[in-house]
Amino acid sequence: MSRRVALVTGGARGIGLGIARALATDGWDLALVGRRSEAEAQPALDGLSGTGAGVRYFQCDLAGDADRRRLVDDLRKCYPSVHLLINNAGVAPSVRADILEADEESFDRLIDTNLRGPYFLTQAVARWMLEADAPGRAIVFITSVSAEAASTNRGDYCISKAGLSMAARLWAVRLAPHGVPVYEVRPGVIATDMTAGVRAKYDAMLADGLALQARWGLPDDVGKVVAALARGDLPYSTGAIIPVDGGMMVPRL
Ligand SMILES: NC(=O)c1ccc[n+]([C@@H]2O[C@H](COP(=O)([O-])OP(=O)(O)OC[C@H]3O[C@@H](n4cnc5c(N)ncnc54)[C@H](OP(=O)(O)O)[C@@H]3O)[C@@H](O)[C@H]2O)c1
Repeated sequence: MSRRVALVTGGARGIGLGIARALATDGWDLALVGRRSEAEAQPALDGLSGTGAGVRYFQCDLAGDADRRRLVDDLRKCYPSVHLLINNAGVAPSVRADILEADEESFDRLIDTNLRGPYFLTQAVARWMLEADAPGRAIVFITSVSAEAASTNRGDYCISKAGLSMAARLWAVRLAPHGVPVYEVRPGVIATDMTAGVRAKYDAMLADGLALQARWGLPDDVGKVVAALARGDLPYSTGAIIPVDGGMMVPRL
């Protein structure tokens, strides 16, 4: 029997790599997508292959329509079907700028990468998924606490993630009749390259009670949650928003 294939965008680094590790351990084959060359991603790919998973890497700028179309064509040449799509790839603004100052170039880059890319990749992959009635299919969107928390020094990021949260809901509604559950996973502050530049700031905020669990989140914390969703361990929860934020967003008085 052929093994099931998980498509993980941004799967060779950071949170995506944590997700890929958890899925590989659970017996999934992996199709990973990133902007970097395959040579740059090779150490991560070697580590994942060591689990026995079949791993393929696809270099693609998900913000570009033509690149995305080429990606889906290439995937179709390699696999009869994809069972799981994890929309994880994303970017933060290069400069955190107050919304009175922030420019439109950064806004466009974040919307194209964090929202337009995953929204239309999901459309293409969902069409492909629906060509066959395979059991165990699912789609996951990695959004952020920024889908809800307003940060005036990165409005573009917050808007992209709020939009992505609605995308997850829309696809959950649209694909439910076809038996494809769609989930939103909302990380808090996770130790990756994306947050390396603000490490000291969040060290202090975590020490000061930012989250109920006073530590940084790890890519593997997100990976474990996604693996549970992929196994079907939340069988009656399509459309759910699952926080992985150490309790950061629990309202307190
Ligand atoms: N870290 C956090 O605290 C945090 C919190 C909440 C949500 N998130 C979200 O979690 C996701 C992963 O973040 P991370 O912290 O792991 O970030 P990261 O370490 O910077 O990794 C980002 C990943 O996305 C890929 N990527 C970015 N733009 C892409 C594009 N245009 N086309 C294809 N791939 C692209 C990168 O590929 P390359 O490696 O090839 O560049 C990389 O693999 C993002 O959506 C982020 O917004 C992160």
